[in-house]
Amino acid sequence: MSKLTQSTAWQALESHFEEIRDLHMRDQFAEDPERFSRFSLQLDDLLFDFSKNRITDKTVKLLCQLAEDCQVPAWIEKMFAGDSINHTEQRAVLHIALRNRNNQAIKTDGQDVMPDVRAMLDKMRQFSEQIRSRQWRGYTEQPITDIVNIGVGGSDLGPLMATEALRPYAIHDLNMHFVSNVDENHISDTLETLKPETTLFILASKSFTTSDTLVNAHTARKWFLKTAADNAAIGKHFVAVSNNTGAAIDFGIQPDNIFKMWDWVGGRYSMWSAVGLPIAISIGMDHFEQLLQGAHEMDEHFRTAPLEKNMPVILALLGIWYSNFFKSQAYALLPYDQHLRYLPDYLRQADMESNGKRIDRDGNVVDYDTGPIVFGQLGITGQHAFYQLMHQGTKLIPADIIAPISNMQCIRGHHRLLMANVFAQAEAFMRGKTEDEARAELKAEGLNKELIEILLPNKIFPGNKPTNTLLFKTLNPLSLGRLISLYEHKIFVQGIIWNINSYDQWGVELGKQLASNVLAELEDHNEVTSHDSSTNGLINYYKRSRPHND
Ligand code: F6P
Repeated sequence: MSKLTQSTAWQALESHFEEIRDLHMRDQFAEDPERFSRFSLQLDDLLFDFSKNRITDKTVKLLCQLAEDCQVPAWIEKMFAGDSINHTEQRAVLHIALRNRNNQAIKTDGQDVMPDVRAMLDKMRQFSEQIRSRQWRGYTEQPITDIVNIGVGGSDLGPLMATEALRPYAIHDLNMHFVSNVDENHISDTLETLKPETTLFILASKSFTTSDTLVNAHTARKWFLKTAADNAAIGKHFVAVSNNTGAAIDFGIQPDNIFKMWDWVGGRYSMWSAVGLPIAISIGMDHFEQLLQGAHEMDEHFRTAPLEKNMPVILALLGIWYSNFFKSQAYALLPYDQHLRYLPDYLRQADMESNGKRIDRDGNVVDYDTGPIVFGQLGITGQHAFYQLMHQGTKLIPADIIAPISNMQCIRGHHRLLMANVFAQAEAFMRGKTEDEARAELKAEGLNKELIEILLPNKIFPGNKPTNTLLFKTLNPLSLGRLISLYEHKIFVQGIIWNINSYDQWGVELGKQLASNVLAELEDHNEVTSHDSSTNGLINYYKRSRPHND
């Protein structure tokens, strides 16, 4: 047994779980009118209601004890102090430095990183203002109208999510495009309507070795040069964001057009760095800095609030409660705002690439569950698609419901109905519908006895399905910054408790390695025999069936 599952705090939680597993939240709410105020937290206008969880005061106390025993506060300090907490890559984890707004030094290896961070922000400001003010001209002296970000994973999802989330702040004569998939349809569909003379490409790759991104980048350059016909024009149309300056220069990017990243910024935590350049171009640097400010406020809260009042810590502990004690396998993110449509995708990478691990910090295979299967979609779309399983299926799926209190558009009738769904769904998940309630409804509909008996079991909702509800005034750079930072720190706390390294991603390597071997085998028409029969069979079928010019 691992240290974690043997610990007093864990075992106390196991016994406590047996005590409360059959409690129904409906009864808990009936017995305690103060439940909402006791189990909710607020940071500025961000309200975090966690009262619709299968918890009691004792649960929260025991979970906080677990966090204490796992030294969460000390680990928070280690992160902020620039210690190499990503031990398998021997790197500090300092995305908090990217949004440090209080001018204090943040050091790693004895070196203050803040001067570099500030220089990067200045460079982003200068560049984004030139593009937005139309001072930056393409090779034909026309201003830029379209920005194409080429990147994948952390070099794509953050800017994609945030530019969409903050669309109302965007400048209207600039169109943002994101190309991540090596499937040629993605880049060719994107380039279809663009003109080389008014297009700017941002090649975003921390490593500058990711093959999907490089293949797309080469295709973009070829497309551009077909019209521009002059390599010198590349300087006005291609910039890069990378930690691998040499490779970016080799690609043909001018040194001045390279925005530096650092190895202490993980890809999936990098939207606060120059990876956020599309965000800065789209909404302007002042708004981008508001985004940083929002994240910084959550960082400060995380660092200073006591565990039981600490939003990321409580959110994390609730996740542990369901994953490890209720043995729930999944976790749903349900934003109720059209502009947050990419949020579940973004947080899925952040969570699953961080905590999808089975080896602990001491090199042992864990004997407990770690990161859940994270999924989600816009709440309204989900209601008409997968909520059925959440309400009446056999699985327990805790969910976070996320909604702004008002929408900028203010078209009468829309936002109220949206919010009615937010409250109704959270209530339905919690209360469910009892047999008596269902029977009374069917009777009121005037159905005959026989039909009532057939329908009755299908009309019962067990309820007792946990949700957190997160509300904030409006979706703006500040509130988005707070929200994303909240989830980043939630992931961190869970990683600490599970004793895993949330900041490496070795699990993505095997597929990459094998793909590069297979790619070599696809060069010719020879029969492949080097794999198992299935892989050989599939490759050979493909080779026989592909068009001759492929
Ligand atoms: O394949 C996984 C990964 O390494 C992610 O962690 C990262 O966000 C993505 O690929 C892109 O990496 P890069 O920015 O180095 O191209």
